[in-house]
Amino acid sequence: MKRLQLSDLDETARRLIDQAAGARANAHAPYSGFTVGAALRCAKGNLFLGCNIEISSYGLTMCAERVALFAGRAAGAQAFEAMAVVGPGSETSPTPPCGACRQVIWDLAPDMDIYLATPGGSVDICKPEDLLPHPFGPSQLAERGDETP
Ligand code: THU
Repeated sequence: MKRLQLSDLDETARRLIDQAAGARANAHAPYSGFTVGAALRCAKGNLFLGCNIEISSYGLTMCAERVALFAGRAAGAQAFEAMAVVGPGSETSPTPPCGACRQVIWDLAPDMDIYLATPGGSVDICKPEDLLPHPFGPSQLAERGDETP
């Protein structure tokens, strides 16, 4: 994990963070007031956006990261290159993804670059393996052997 400033990043990464900040404006967070936006870029250049959507039965709430990844996968995209996430964070410390999102990121986009940004331009750059050490994932299911249930 590396912490940089927006101005240290290249144009492609800055644009993705900007798109995540734009998606944040669509967040539906009437209960927490904690709004998050995500932007997901695919190898072909196409883009999927997400924002958190809170539901009155709180457990049904969906995070911005998963909305973007599920939208991308549902549209048939698979080669996810990078995702930017913009949440309130503190002045300098970006919002880290929740545990559920870390698992989904690991399953659907284990190699992508991740940019976690504050609205003020502090950016943590990391990879899925930094967020979910020693993960459970598709390989465990593939290697389960022939133990009978
Ligand atoms: N949330 C996200 O959308 N992404 C994160 O990385 C952290 C948390 C949302 C879920 C909920 O709507 C609100 O933030 C407070 O937990």
